[in-house]
Amino acid sequence: MTGIYVWGTGCGASELVEQGLQPERIAAFVDNTPFGKNFLGRPVLLPGQLSVERCRLMIVTSRQAEQIARQCRNLGIPRERILFLKDSWEIRDRNQLCQDAADLLGQALLEKLLPRQQVIACPGQLRHSRLPDAWLAGDYVRLASLELLCRQATQVSGAAAELGVYKGMFARCINFLMPERKLYLFDSFSGFAPKDAPTDGIQQAHKQTTVEGVKAVLPFPDQAVICPGFFPDSAREVEEGFCLVSLDVDFFASTLEGLRWFWPRIHAGGFLLLHDWGNPALPGVAQALECYRQEQAIPVVPIPDRNGTLVLCKVK
Ligand SMILES: C[S@@+](CC[C@H](N)C(=O)[O-])C[C@H]1O[C@@H](n2cnc3c(N)ncnc32)[C@H](O)[C@@H]1O
Repeated sequence: MTGIYVWGTGCGASELVEQGLQPERIAAFVDNTPFGKNFLGRPVLLPGQLSVERCRLMIVTSRQAEQIARQCRNLGIPRERILFLKDSWEIRDRNQLCQDAADLLGQALLEKLLPRQQVIACPGQLRHSRLPDAWLAGDYVRLASLELLCRQATQVSGAAAELGVYKGMFARCINFLMPERKLYLFDSFSGFAPKDAPTDGIQQAHKQTTVEGVKAVLPFPDQAVICPGFFPDSAREVEEGFCLVSLDVDFFASTLEGLRWFWPRIHAGGFLLLHDWGNPALPGVAQALECYRQEQAIPVVPIPDRNGTLVLCKVK
């Protein structure tokens, strides 16, 4: 037994395998909310099922680094055996270990004393945002930009939409920021289209989602119109105009189809957010845009978020 465990069964885990760690070398995957009992042919354990003595290396592929570090500590996995592939930095509040302060001073006085002395643990705390801090920590620039775009898009008529929803982590933000708008959500819920030729690992990771799971993370699920199946077939019945669309399908063919279907349906003053346009690992996204822009001129604004979103602006 290798003693190598991998925390997470999402895209990060499939990237790790694609980059060269063969599944046979992984003793097991660990996940707080496993989708199935196996992932890439290896068992998936709940944290409580992990045999800590056998764990010589825990590779954390999820972005929830802080929470997983805490769980590993509680399980008794020494810090030197944990490798964080994402969000490996840490800024600590020096008061974190001062457990007795609340007992001695009282919670109310402590809260009065502390707010201006907190360490900035995530950029979300730099500015008061309506989005919860835990959501902002994922990709602050992407979400803070979305917040401003939603504010602008509320002046435009039409629904909001996302093509490429996966577990609904971005969709929940649109739903939170535009609670009064219908939100159309398009996803196959069975991975990428064969014509986009994803690798096995990427495909398996993206199959781990359901309509019910997405509904459960939306703050205003009654506004959601979920259209499962491959796009654009899944949109055949939809007759709607849009004020804001997120397009996040990673590959050339589906991105081009998304642009061709949505762009004419976006109202003047509205936006389309093209995720991964600046991501060198997914060149098909920028190629699809180039292809579509040969068909017509579109004003665009790049955003310096984690994967380089491009905002397409529909001019009046
Ligand atoms: C990168 S994930 C989306 C992530 C999500 N936007 C977020 O930020 O949390 C891409 C999703 O697009 C879906 N997808 C890709 N091509 C599709 C197509 N032609 N029709 C429907 N869904 C598609 C995949 O199944 C996958 O769930």
